[in-house]
Amino acid sequence: MSRPLSDDHRPRRTFAIISHPDAGKSTLTEALVLHAQVITEAGAVHGKAGRSGTVSDWMQMERDRGISITSAALQFEYADHVVNMVDTPGHADFSEDTYRVLSAVDSAVMLVDAAKGLEPQTLKLFRVCALRGIPVITVINKWDRPGLDPLELMDGIEKQIGLRPTPLTWPVGIAGDFRGVLDRRSGEFIRYLRTAGGSTRAPEQHLPAEQAAAEEGEAWTTAQEEHELLSADGADHDQQRFLDGATTPVLFASALLNFGVAQILERLLELAPPPHATPTEAGGVREVDEPFSAFVFKVQSGMDSAHRDRLAYARVCSGVFERGMVVKHASTGRPFATKYAQAVFGRERSSVETALPGDIIGLVNANALRVGDTIHDGPAVRFPAIPTFAPEHFMSVRAKESGRYKQFRRGIEQLDQEGVVQVLRSTVRGDQNPVLAAVGPMQFEVVAARMETEFNAPVTMDSLSYTIARRTRAEDADVLRGVRQIEVLERADGAHIVLFPDKWRAHTVVRDHPDILIEELPAST
Ligand code: G4P
Repeated sequence: MSRPLSDDHRPRRTFAIISHPDAGKSTLTEALVLHAQVITEAGAVHGKAGRSGTVSDWMQMERDRGISITSAALQFEYADHVVNMVDTPGHADFSEDTYRVLSAVDSAVMLVDAAKGLEPQTLKLFRVCALRGIPVITVINKWDRPGLDPLELMDGIEKQIGLRPTPLTWPVGIAGDFRGVLDRRSGEFIRYLRTAGGSTRAPEQHLPAEQAAAEEGEAWTTAQEEHELLSADGADHDQQRFLDGATTPVLFASALLNFGVAQILERLLELAPPPHATPTEAGGVREVDEPFSAFVFKVQSGMDSAHRDRLAYARVCSGVFERGMVVKHASTGRPFATKYAQAVFGRERSSVETALPGDIIGLVNANALRVGDTIHDGPAVRFPAIPTFAPEHFMSVRAKESGRYKQFRRGIEQLDQEGVVQVLRSTVRGDQNPVLAAVGPMQFEVVAARMETEFNAPVTMDSLSYTIARRTRAEDADVLRGVRQIEVLERADGAHIVLFPDKWRAHTVVRDHPDILIEELPAST
């Protein structure tokens, strides 16, 4: 097998695509990889057959080891760079997972459907990027289909996200009649040429403005006028403002026809920031050239029935990772051997020999590692915990068959560690009947399916009528345990969580107990 790209010291770009289901993320992923000539035939990366985003498909995909669920990152080379594309789970209810994934990237591509504009899931994810200071490049997709007016689209985006869109290209031809784009920097026309089924790299022609005017007539004149309008309105790209999170560069594309894909990759390399110093828990930073450090942003098990192992995905923050090195697990202080580190590429897993800042490594047999953990070499370092979001849905869970309690316990513990759901326990309920807390109800379906198929412990769940979770201190928990209509439980990280039926009850409890600390958990919206 050829040398994994991680062993290569070229500059890195590590990004994720954020989008609403159906905006074209899978199609664009294929197109980007295809364009980068790593995989020569569209469809080789994603098995798309029968994909409709339902739970069963999700489980099936996991079984098939389809990339959008099971592998954390795709790595390819382009124009003398190594590009790491971190995958975000597609379904709205996996958003908590997605938030964590976004802690592993340096930039994001926000994919917008030309006919729909910004959709709710995209907006949610954008907010996480904004919160984390991740610069966002916007791609308007499906321009080959009838859609909104481009200027209206820009207005809509600006109103919704508060960032100034600064188009780098501007479409020539209305949505549904996509002829190419006006490159706003060079002023030339990039004409896209259709290929049969869009299955090969779409050829493009670069034409000077005069020729474009002669050949494209009114479509060119309109694009030209709108481009001038944008400039007059101050909507030109400014690198510093982009990095500061004040603007978002915009590109127009049709992932399906491979139109505009080259521009996406080129601008990503040119504008998106390279891996940079990572803030530490102690308030300092770990520079990229300091000794090795990485943090775990995703833990997954049951990926491959042949290897019932647990894989922890970590993003390298500093130094050079070399397979076999024994690193330190910051939260336990114990050594961690990395003999089985892997790079994950499409459906293949291969051993990774070295990895650089920005790269994603998969650590096998990583039973001790949890989401948010730091591993390092050299001077001790700990990266801040990845925030978990306030759950809004609660279920009590128990094993259907009492004889399967051992399997039940193991499964629940595993899913808790993976962060599929939060598991809350109390002495009142006992270990046999914990509470599952989720941001979205779909997380429960995943638990039920995995408990049955993977851990051989079918479960029964009962919906609880709580809607709000808050955090309290250990010393206050005892007082609150006596209060009507609420419940106090403990999370695996030791946090004391109070569940309230609604915000009014939360309000009265806070009012009646002024000396007790009841704090909000970070919200997902
Ligand atoms: P997702 O991962 O974001 O959920 O979206 P996905 O790529 O699966 O795309 C959703 C649908 O939109 C697919 O159609 C896909 O072919 C289509 N699509 C994606 N990009 C473009 C584009 O640039 N132009 C046009 N016209 N369509 C696009 P589908 O009918 O659901 O699936 P399929 O049967 O075509 O595979």
